[in-house]
Amino acid sequence: MTPQTAPTPRFSVADDGVGWVTFDDPGRPVNVLTEEVMSRVDAILDEVTTLARSARLKVLVFESGKADSFIAGADVEAIAAIEDPTEAEAKIRLGQSIFQRVADLPVPTVAAIHGVCVGGGVELSLACTHRVLSDSDRTRVGLPEVMLGILPAWGGTTRLPRLVGLSAALDLLLTGKQIPSRKALRMGFADRVVPAELFRDQVRIFAVDLPSPARRAKPGMITRLLDSTPPGRRLVLTLARRKVVATTGGHYPAPLRILDVLRRTVGKSVGAGLEAEARTAAELVVSPVSKNLIHVFHMREATRKGSGVSDPSVRPRPVDEMGVLGAGVMGGGIAQIAAYKGIRVRMKDIRHDAITGGLQHARALFDKAVRRKKLRPLEADQAMERISGSLDYSGFRTADLVVEAVVERMEVKKAVLREVEDLTRPGSVLSTNTSSLSVDGMAEALRRPEDFCGIHFFNPVDRMPLVEIVRGTRSSDATVATAYAFALKLGKVPVVVGDGPGFLVNRILGPYLNESGHLLADGGSIEEVDGAAKAFGMPMGPLRLIDEVGIDVSKHAGAVLHAALGDRLAPSPVLIALGDSGRLGRKGGSGFYRYEKGREKGVDPSVYAALGATVPSARRTLGHREIRRRLVTMMINEAARALEEGVVSSAAAVDLAMIMGTGFPPFRGGLLRFADTFHLRAVLDRTLELEASHGPRFAPPALLVDLADRDKGFYEAFPE
Ligand SMILES: NC(=O)c1ccc[n+]([C@@H]2O[C@H](COP(=O)([O-])OP(=O)(O)OC[C@H]3O[C@@H](n4cnc5c(N)ncnc54)[C@H](O)[C@@H]3O)[C@@H](O)[C@H]2O)c1
Repeated sequence: MTPQTAPTPRFSVADDGVGWVTFDDPGRPVNVLTEEVMSRVDAILDEVTTLARSARLKVLVFESGKADSFIAGADVEAIAAIEDPTEAEAKIRLGQSIFQRVADLPVPTVAAIHGVCVGGGVELSLACTHRVLSDSDRTRVGLPEVMLGILPAWGGTTRLPRLVGLSAALDLLLTGKQIPSRKALRMGFADRVVPAELFRDQVRIFAVDLPSPARRAKPGMITRLLDSTPPGRRLVLTLARRKVVATTGGHYPAPLRILDVLRRTVGKSVGAGLEAEARTAAELVVSPVSKNLIHVFHMREATRKGSGVSDPSVRPRPVDEMGVLGAGVMGGGIAQIAAYKGIRVRMKDIRHDAITGGLQHARALFDKAVRRKKLRPLEADQAMERISGSLDYSGFRTADLVVEAVVERMEVKKAVLREVEDLTRPGSVLSTNTSSLSVDGMAEALRRPEDFCGIHFFNPVDRMPLVEIVRGTRSSDATVATAYAFALKLGKVPVVVGDGPGFLVNRILGPYLNESGHLLADGGSIEEVDGAAKAFGMPMGPLRLIDEVGIDVSKHAGAVLHAALGDRLAPSPVLIALGDSGRLGRKGGSGFYRYEKGREKGVDPSVYAALGATVPSARRTLGHREIRRRLVTMMINEAARALEEGVVSSAAAVDLAMIMGTGFPPFRGGLLRFADTFHLRAVLDRTLELEASHGPRFAPPALLVDLADRDKGFYEAFPE
């Protein structure tokens, strides 16, 4: 062995002629391809070339010294900092040239991938002649660049389609998803998948006796035909473009630019591909959309690494067993996701059929995961075995955490929480999933309010990423930290909020939804109001969202917010008339839209008659600009009030919660980041104009006036 001194990667050559380049950054939990690491790779390649010429080195392996990850990609901080496209292009070309040197080495090269391998890690492995993956569940490969508004520009966009075919490559390039080893083998990315135990030995055996690349998996005949002929490729790219436009509304340039690069360069030389990649990526790196998406990435990372409390000495308590009170829509959903993540769950309800329903709901979701190949049948059965239910509190004694999800009535919630408090041990967390009742109000009934907080999931639990952790006045740090870690364990995005009407997200949605009623009263059409919100980037318009939530539920939530927050939340006459119309929204088959078997079938024109005199008989065009102004201003104002009142402590918390809880468009970076891009003086002026024409519900919050006067943005005034 000839070990080297520089930190990472290390390089050594064994007696059998296998050279090992080992990435193991001592300063980071995962390996990142920073500028220093890349220049070290470059230096190692000089040495490799010399040794290969002297025949002392026969094959080169790239591996990781980390337990569960290979390479986590390029340095996102460095990408975020680039403002100049010329600088971007120079940096990209440098990376490309280093990986091209790997591709040009006179010896075969093997990427030995165990654990997560994304972005630049995949691009390095694509420059190798062979890839061997471990069979660990932790091994995943993906190209997440598109999610940061850029494209893989160190050869990923060029080499992946040449290795696995255009169709399979698009599946990774356009979605950013990560795939397991099995799939990587099937698509022809991996040459072999070997057991994770004694992985290094397995890799060594593989490297010494290299299989021919011709033995790699090949796609089926139709895919091969499509991928390998110019008309076939044109068809694949056209269909992909159509799908991208339909799913992103054209708001995200990166996937479209990836398709452009491929259209121009697939079938041509690698050099032509690299050239197009570099130029396109350099433009994307400096684009506002990419900066916004990287901001969202940072917010998510900060949440993942956070604890939910400011005191760094507070440790969350482990949650291995939990109780769920109420096996209805939410209780059943919470039980399912917790069991999925390895927690033993006991459900309690007062109705036997509710328990059966909760279990069936969980089973149906597991079955769906199996159908979609997200779970193996055995894993689904094992997860299902972790859930049980009963009509009494048996099994609650050992719970580390209990979530209450019974009917939305204060006295019922207080009663069940008091009962459960007596059963569970001090220090185990008690929580409520209430969406509209006061957490502090419930705490009054408890002897250990310090162990109590809100854990507010959104419906449907399995699909909605946000969880609001509601910190009551008397909740302890340990309780909040445990609830936060529990939400992370479930794969959710927790945001800590204070107790208050609608907490954070529903409070901001309230005036936004209500304004959509005012817009109809002013003559806007359903299509136009929802169309303007969608054109802004919301996943669905506010009227469609009211249908989705349920008209009865929206009416109740609106009334609660009105009572708590005052007249600016007075329900619009349109929404009152709708609430009285007997329509229920999607679940009842009719609302603003018609539904058949739960599927939306277009606007229901008869709804205007049901709204009676609250809407004019003739529709007029309000224009997307006016609609968007009114809807977005409502949200900004309410978010400012929530910040002002201390419901959340940072602008980023608002933005992450809105993105994860409502689908607020990530490409805009978040609600308050969007407001900040205009300068708050302009936002205030616009608000005052709306107040003048539509009345006091648009009165600007004191915080907005203050920040505009002081020339500050939300992010500056409320940093993390
Ligand atoms: N549905 C949503 O969209 C949503 C979203 C977020 C939060 N929430 C909140 O979650 C909670 C539950 O809502 P849901 O939609 O699941 O309601 P649901 O009506 O589907 O379920 C409530 C369940 O609680 C049971 N229950 C009633 N009294 C009980 C008692 N004393 N002990 C044990 N079980 C009892 C009922 O039998 C029923 O099965 C509510 O507080 C609601 O505000 C609901």
